[in-house]
Amino acid sequence: MDIDLIRKDTLGCKSNIHLNNAGASLMPRKVADAIRDYISEEEIYGGYETAEKHANELEKFYTYSATLLHCQAKNIAFCTSATDSFDKALSSIPFHRNDVILTTTNDYPSNFIAFLSLQKRYGVDIILVDNTRTGEIDLEDLQHKIKKHSPRLLSISHVPTSSGLVQPVEQIGAIVKNYDCIFLLDACQSLGQLDLDALQTHAHFISGTFRKFLRGPRGAGLLYVSDKALEMGLEPLFPDLRGAGWTAVNHYTSRSDARRFEHWETAYALLNGSKEAVAYLLKLGIENVQKRNDILVHKLRNKLISIPHIKVLDRGSRQCSIITFSVEATNETAAKTYFQQKKINVHITDKSSALVDFREKGIDWAVRVSPHYYNTEQEINIFVDAVREMSMQA
Ligand SMILES: Cc1ncc(COP(=O)(O)O)c(C=O)c1O
Repeated sequence: MDIDLIRKDTLGCKSNIHLNNAGASLMPRKVADAIRDYISEEEIYGGYETAEKHANELEKFYTYSATLLHCQAKNIAFCTSATDSFDKALSSIPFHRNDVILTTTNDYPSNFIAFLSLQKRYGVDIILVDNTRTGEIDLEDLQHKIKKHSPRLLSISHVPTSSGLVQPVEQIGAIVKNYDCIFLLDACQSLGQLDLDALQTHAHFISGTFRKFLRGPRGAGLLYVSDKALEMGLEPLFPDLRGAGWTAVNHYTSRSDARRFEHWETAYALLNGSKEAVAYLLKLGIENVQKRNDILVHKLRNKLISIPHIKVLDRGSRQCSIITFSVEATNETAAKTYFQQKKINVHITDKSSALVDFREKGIDWAVRVSPHYYNTEQEINIFVDAVREMSMQA
C-alpha cells in the first residue's frame, strides 16, 4: 500500500490524528468529490434529470457492494444507516406472541432497544446466548438454545460498537443454517476492515453502514438480502412504490430483488459517494487493509498494555481494529477534552453503548481508539505518548 498517496487522498490527515474510524472515518477526496459533483449537477439540471443521466453509473453501487460481500447485485439494497437497514430487515419478520429472539450481550444497543419494542408490542421473548470465558459467543450454548427455544430470529453483531471482539460468524452460520431460524447479522463495524463473505455466513440479512471503516459518507447504509430471504417473500413492513408496485386496488407486488427494502426517495449523491468508497476499497484490496490494520493494531495494543494505570479491555480470541481502554482517576469529560486539545480524534464510549459488557468489566466509560490503514506508526506513537502522559497526570 502506498500510504503517502493514500494520505494525500485524505485531506483530514493534515489537521488531526484521526483514530475514530469506528465512529466515522475520514472520506477519501474522491468520495467527497463524488458527492459534491453530484449535488452540483442536481443544482443545475434538477434531481430527477440527474438521476436519469447517471443511472448506469449509480447502478455500480450495487455491483461494487456485491463484490465486497461476495454476492450478487440483486442481493443489495441502499439504506440511510445501519439501523435503518437492520430495522427494515427486522420489520420483515412475522413475529407472534412468545416467539424467541436469540442474541448476545455484545449486540448493538439500538438493536436491543428494537427487540424490547417488539417485546412491548408483540410479547416476544428475548433470550441471551452465553459468552465463553474469552468473551465471544459460546457456540455450544448457541446450539443448545436454538434446539431448546426454536427461535424465530438469531441476531448477532459481528463486531460490537464498544470493543475489538470479533464474533465467529461463519461458525455461527454453520450452526444456524440447520434450523428454521432467521439469521440477521449486524456488520456495521466489520465492513471495510474485515473480509465478509455473505454466503459463508448463511445470514438471511446483513446490515452495514458506509461512514465507518468503509470510509463513505454519513447517512448511508446497505442491506444484504439473501436469496433464501427473497424466496421466503420477506419484505419490509412498509414497502413503498420503489420496493413494490401497486398492481390492483387491493394488491401490490413486491420487487423480486433486495431493492424491495428501499424507499423511493433516496439521497443519490450519498449513494454515489458510497459507490466511490467501495470502489476505493476494492482497488486497495480488503486483504491488504486487513494486513495493515493487524500490524497497526497489534503495535498499539501492546504499547497500551505496558502503560501503568491503563487497562485494555477488549476480549475475544480474535480482535480487530477497535481498542478500548479505561484510565484510572480521570473522568469522561476530562479525557475527551484532553484528546481534543491534542488534536487526536478518539471516541469516549459510555456504558449505555455496552450495558452488560461494561458492567461485567466494572467500568462506566472507556476510551475507544480505532485506527485504519491510512494511519501511520508515527501517529500511533504520538497517541501512545499522549496516553502515557495522561496516565501520569491521573
Ligand atoms: C455494531 C454497530 N451496529 C449498528 C450501529 C448503528 O449504525 P448507524 O448509526 O449507522 O445506524 C453501530 C454504530 O455505531 C454499531 O457500532
